[in-house]
Amino acid sequence: MAAKLNPIDMAKYVSARRALDYVEDGMRIGLGTGSTAAWMVRCLGDMVREDGLRVTGVPTSSRTADLARQVGVPIATLEDVKWLDLTIDGADEFDQDLNLIKGGGGALLQEKIVATASDMMVVITDASKNVETLGAFPLPVEVIPFGWQTTKALIEESLIGMDVGGRAVTLRLNRDAPFRTDEGNLILDLHVKRIGNPRQLALVLNQIPGVVENGLFLDICDVVIVGTADGAVEVRDINSGTITTEQVDLRDDDNIFVNVSD
Ligand code: A5P
Repeated sequence: MAAKLNPIDMAKYVSARRALDYVEDGMRIGLGTGSTAAWMVRCLGDMVREDGLRVTGVPTSSRTADLARQVGVPIATLEDVKWLDLTIDGADEFDQDLNLIKGGGGALLQEKIVATASDMMVVITDASKNVETLGAFPLPVEVIPFGWQTTKALIEESLIGMDVGGRAVTLRLNRDAPFRTDEGNLILDLHVKRIGNPRQLALVLNQIPGVVENGLFLDICDVVIVGTADGAVEVRDINSGTITTEQVDLRDDDNIFVNVSD
C-alpha cells in the first residue's frame, strides 16, 4: 500500500498521521491548507467516521472546508468557536527556530489568524522544507486590489534597506489572471532569496498601506513534524527544546490511495 504513493507524498502522509496524536476528543482544531494538510484532514475524517472522534474543525480556506465536508469532519467558523485548542498546517519553509514561510497556496491570511488563535500550532512537513535561512521560497504577501501597483512599488522600495538577497516582486497569477485569495485579495511574491532579519521584514511589510498580511510566521509554531517515506518522523518541539525520532505505525488499511488535489 505504501508503495502506491511517491516518497514525497508518503512523507507528507506520515507527518500528518503523527500530528493527529495531538488530537483529543472534543477539541477545536484549525485545519490548514495545502497538500500536506489535506492528508491530515482526510485522516481526521477517518477518525471521526470510524472511531467516533468528536472534534470541530475550523478550515483555513474554502478548499479545506470543501475537503472537510467531503470526509465528514464537522466544521465551524472562527467566529463560532473563537479560540482553538490546536492548529495543524503545512509550511513552505521552516528554520531551526520553527519560524515559517507560508502562503504558497495563497491561504496565509486565514492560516495566520487561525494559528494565532490556537493554544498550539503543529506544522507537518517533509525534509525538503527545512532551511537554514528563510527566503529561498518566495515570500507571499497578501495585498488589497485597490492600488496594488503602488503597494508593490512601496514594497520594492522598502526592500532596498533590508538584509535580503533579492528584491524582485511579482504578482501571482492563476493561469493568465491575477490569483485571488478567499478574501478577493491579490498575492505578491517577494523573491528575496535570503531573509537576514525576518522580524524586521515582517514589521516593515505590515506597515505598508495596502498590505493585509505577510507569510512570515514568527514565534507561532510550537512543533514541526518532519515525515519520511519509510514511516520515520522527526518531532521538533520548540517549547521543550527537544528533537526526537520516532516511527509511525502504518497499518495495511491506511487510506492513502485517495487523490488529494492540492
Ligand atoms: C497554503 O497557503 C500554504 O501556507 C501551505 O500550508 C504551504 O504552501 C504548504 O503546502 P504543501 O503542504 O502543499 O507543501
